[in-house]
Amino acid sequence: MQHPEPSVSVSSSPYFDEAHSADVVNARMDPNADVRLKKITSILVRHLHAAVKEIEPTHEEWFAAIRFLTETGQMCTDWRQEYILLSDILGVSMLVDAINHRRPSGATPNTILGPFYVANAPEYKSGANICLDGKGEPLVVAGRVTDIGGTPVPNAKLEVWQTNDDGFYDVQQKGIQPDSNLRGVFTSDAEGRYWFKSVKPRHYPIPSDGPVGKLLGAMGRHPNRAAHLHFIVTAPGYDPVITHIFTPDCPYLSEDAVFGVKRELIAEFNKIDDPDAAREIGFKAPFWSVTWDFTLATSTNPTRAIA
Ligand code: BEZ
Ligand code: FE
Repeated sequence: MQHPEPSVSVSSSPYFDEAHSADVVNARMDPNADVRLKKITSILVRHLHAAVKEIEPTHEEWFAAIRFLTETGQMCTDWRQEYILLSDILGVSMLVDAINHRRPSGATPNTILGPFYVANAPEYKSGANICLDGKGEPLVVAGRVTDIGGTPVPNAKLEVWQTNDDGFYDVQQKGIQPDSNLRGVFTSDAEGRYWFKSVKPRHYPIPSDGPVGKLLGAMGRHPNRAAHLHFIVTAPGYDPVITHIFTPDCPYLSEDAVFGVKRELIAEFNKIDDPDAAREIGFKAPFWSVTWDFTLATSTNPTRAIA
């Protein structure tokens, strides 16, 4: 009996030809290679070949791409990870994060970590001011850490960091800003409450003096991140949350350079022009106030839980 032709023709030849290029490469894989590696590399080969076929690059364009990747690698140091920046501006960092943190509704969503997190920042008591350079508009941040049912989570660790009013993180300006300016670690109390003082964040550009900045410019995109405070909130038995809170009045909210904004993370910042309220917390009026609650999801992946 005659069998119909398969709809997708797969070459059985080991020799390269344009039509079957990805199949020829993938057929070379050792069947005993690691299963995950086989899956990843074969998918990458398939999509890469499809992209090249669609683009039909000239040799000059292909070498320009190789040069771009070379320069991206050369830009990397202990402090500068240009490849992560590339992944950030292409939306891939946010996509990987979304795939890995599909939380139940109501839980605080994740967003991008960014390169300026520093472990072991100073630990503070509730109410401390993390702004050590005195610049910017004073802000008080307060709220609760709870589980999805609203039960308080005591002893949650809240790590916070942000830029100063000039738009730089302390680690970008060593010797200019005080060490650990605008970063610190707080702990929620028995009712899950936390609070601290800081300054209203402002928008700032991601590092754009390298190949990724050049690419952004060539694409007609700006390098600005919408104004935010970073948080990592962890508690035993809960999925750690790496997130931000965004100011609602930032002009870059809908065009964040790294696609980090999520609607649920835009907070209400209220300007308080009340000298008594200001005096009570050691500020002068006016000051900004934001109330922000973190809702933690029970960890579903034991390898991701903090013990
Ligand atoms: C940040 O928010 O700190 C950041 C995120 C991605 C790239 C650069 C900076
Ligand atoms: Fe940031």
